Amino acid sequence: MNIAMGADHAGFEQKELLKNYLIEQGFTVHDKGCFSEERVDYPDFAKTVSEAVAAGEADFGVLVCGTGIGMAIAANKVDGIRAANVITPEFAQLAREHNNANVVTVSGRFVDLETNKAILDTFLNTEFGGGRHECRVSKIMELE
Ligand code: RB5
Repeated sequence: MNIAMGADHAGFEQKELLKNYLIEQGFTVHDKGCFSEERVDYPDFAKTVSEAVAAGEADFGVLVCGTGIGMAIAANKVDGIRAANVITPEFAQLAREHNNANVVTVSGRFVDLETNKAILDTFLNTEFGGGRHECRVSKIMELE
């Protein structure tokens, strides 16, 4: 499975650690930056990762910033993207089962690494539930 990853300076450290974790799990990771703790603008990385997912170059996107909030707001501007800002594994499960989220955004500053690993484990291994959620997700996409 192909994963596109991105971060700003506030998410850089955890992005590196989470990238290595995903590679250890057997995922192919396309790292879209940033590549240092130099101050950058998170929408630039949300855009690059989201466009890779929307184009089918990656199955899922993972974005890390200080809170995950800005990344989610920016990613959801890209057609085809359903980005969820997730701070617990339970929310990761529901974002996949109910919302068919294709991008997960996490916090590098307020959520610890082990929790973020568990969030990614759950997000990347949970299927969309379909059924009653199908038409709701279709209605989201009709908003584009
Ligand atoms: C950067 O200072 C911070 O605003 C950013 O990482 C993120 O938390 C935005 O939502």
